[in-house]
Amino acid sequence: MKSTISKFFLIAFLFLGWASASAQMIKTPTPKRAKGQTDVLRLAIAPIPTVRVAFIGLGMRGPGAVERMTHIPGVEIVALCDMLEDRTQSANKILEKAGLPKAQEFYGENSWRKVTALPNVDLVYIATDWKHHAELGVQAMKDGKNVAIEVPGAMNMKEIWDLINTSEKTRKHCMML
Ligand SMILES: NC(=O)c1ccc[n+]([C@@H]2O[C@H](COP(=O)([O-])OP(=O)(O)OC[C@H]3O[C@@H](n4cnc5c(N)ncnc54)[C@H](O)[C@@H]3O)[C@@H](O)[C@H]2O)c1
Repeated sequence: MKSTISKFFLIAFLFLGWASASAQMIKTPTPKRAKGQTDVLRLAIAPIPTVRVAFIGLGMRGPGAVERMTHIPGVEIVALCDMLEDRTQSANKILEKAGLPKAQEFYGENSWRKVTALPNVDLVYIATDWKHHAELGVQAMKDGKNVAIEVPGAMNMKEIWDLINTSEKTRKHCMML
């Protein structure tokens, strides 16, 4: 009797687990890729001896990321960008405190566009508000940069596929932090 009850609970438990997993699964269509376009699974780019990083978005989250990068060998922080001038200036103080050279400062609403276009940048690190993540990430890859984006990387399926398609076409890394 005891083992029949145990079996009943085991089956019920498995069924509930399966039912809740199925209910939570979200299925979306996978758009057809352009001819010749391949995925970026296991994408590897040529090693970069010194990774030159540009930060865009220096509010609550950005400066902590800047500080963490100052401890990583082989990293050079070359550009700091925010809509607000005082935020770029105070992020530069983090570099000064760490004994590192100052980065180029960019501020103003559209200054990010100059940053993604810089020739001396390997990685653009985006920590702006959510609404700008995908737009900036796509443009940075188009400008030849690898990209790291704070969560969430995108706000809707169109933006998600814009990021995927751009990464696949440009063969640049796009990582959600
Ligand atoms: N990974 C995590 O654990 C974690 C934790 C907290 C926040 N976040 C994410 O980090 C991002 C930033 O969060 P936050 O709390 O620092 O936000 P915040 O609002 O404090 O800072 C955003 C900064 O981006 C700047 N900005 C916005 N648009 C810009 C643009 N077009 N060009 C240049 N600068 C621009 C703003 O001036 C502001 O200084 C959010 O997307 C958030 O979801 C992630």
